[in-house]
Amino acid sequence: MTATDLVRVERLSADYRDGAGWRPVLRDVSLTIRAGEVLGLAGESGSGKSTLAALLLGETMPERRIRAGHVRFGGIDLFAAPRDTVQALRGRRIGFVPQNGGASLTPTMRIGGLLRSLLRHHRPELSSRDVGVRAERVLAEVGIPDPPAALRRFPHQFSGGQQQRIALALALACEPDLLVLDEPTTGQDAVIRQAMLALLRAIRRERHLSILFVTHDLATLAQLCDRAAVMYQGEIVETGPAPDVIERPSHTYTRKLMAALPRMDDAALADRVAAQ
Ligand SMILES: Nc1ncnc2c1ncn2[C@@H]1O[C@H](COP(=O)(O)OP(=O)(O)O)[C@@H](O)[C@H]1O
Ligand SMILES: [Mg+2]
Repeated sequence: MTATDLVRVERLSADYRDGAGWRPVLRDVSLTIRAGEVLGLAGESGSGKSTLAALLLGETMPERRIRAGHVRFGGIDLFAAPRDTVQALRGRRIGFVPQNGGASLTPTMRIGGLLRSLLRHHRPELSSRDVGVRAERVLAEVGIPDPPAALRRFPHQFSGGQQQRIALALALACEPDLLVLDEPTTGQDAVIRQAMLALLRAIRRERHLSILFVTHDLATLAQLCDRAAVMYQGEIVETGPAPDVIERPSHTYTRKLMAALPRMDDAALADRVAAQ
C-alpha cells in the first residue's frame, strides 16, 4: 500500500444468499483508489458494481457475506473494525449517492432538516450558525438556485435532476475524502447528463477528493475518469488509464461494451478524453 492509496480492495469475494446456499457475486476483486483520483467502474447491469460500491462503505447485510478478502479505507479494515468506527466514516469521510439517489431523499424532511441533521451528527463541534452557512454553501455548490428558500422545501418540490443534485449535496456536506456515485447519470436525458458531468468536473477541480464513479456507459466514463476498471460477472477483467481502456481495450468483454455504444468517431472520443 503506497501512502497515497485511499481505498484498497484486496482479493475480495462476496456472496448473496440463494435459498439454502450462497451465490457468488464478487470474485477475487482487487482495486485501489488513490487520493485525488477519479476511478470509473463500468460493466453491464448485474455484473456486481452496486455490490462493490456498497462494500466500499463497509455495509453489511444478513443476505450477503464476505467470503474472502479485505476493504481498507485510509488503512482501516472496514470488515474487521468496530461497527461504530465504520459508521462514523460513512457520511463523514465517505459520501455516497446511491443509484436513483434523488428518489432516496427522506420525503417527509425538508432539505434544511436533512442537511442540518447530517452536519450535526458528524460535525458536533459546529455552531448552529455554521451548520446553516454550510448547508447553504453546499446547495449553491451543486447549483441549486436560491439556497435559503431551497432549505425550507421538501424533496418532491424539486425536479428529478435537482433531487439528484441535492443527494450529491448531502454526500458532500461533511467534506468527505471519498465520493461514491452509483450511476449518477443513468436514466437522464443528454442535457441533464452533461450538466451533471460538468458539475462533477468542477467539484473535482475545487475539492481534493477521490471519486468512485459507477456507470454502465463507457462514453460517460471517458469524460470524467482518470482510470477505469471493467467488471464482468463479478470479476475485474480490465483496469488501466481511462483513455487506454477505452481506446485500446484488451479484454473481449470491454470491446463488446464499447461496440454497444452509439457510434462516436475517434476524433470526437479523443476530444472528450482530452477535455476532462
Ligand atoms: N440484495 C440482494 N440479494 C440477492 N442478490 C442480489 C442482491 N443485490 C444484488 N443481487 C444480485 O447480485 C448481482 C450483482 O448485482 P449488482 O451489484 O446490483 O450489479 P450492478 O450494480 O452491476 O447491476 C446480480 O445478479 C443481482 O441480482
Ligand atoms: Mg447497480
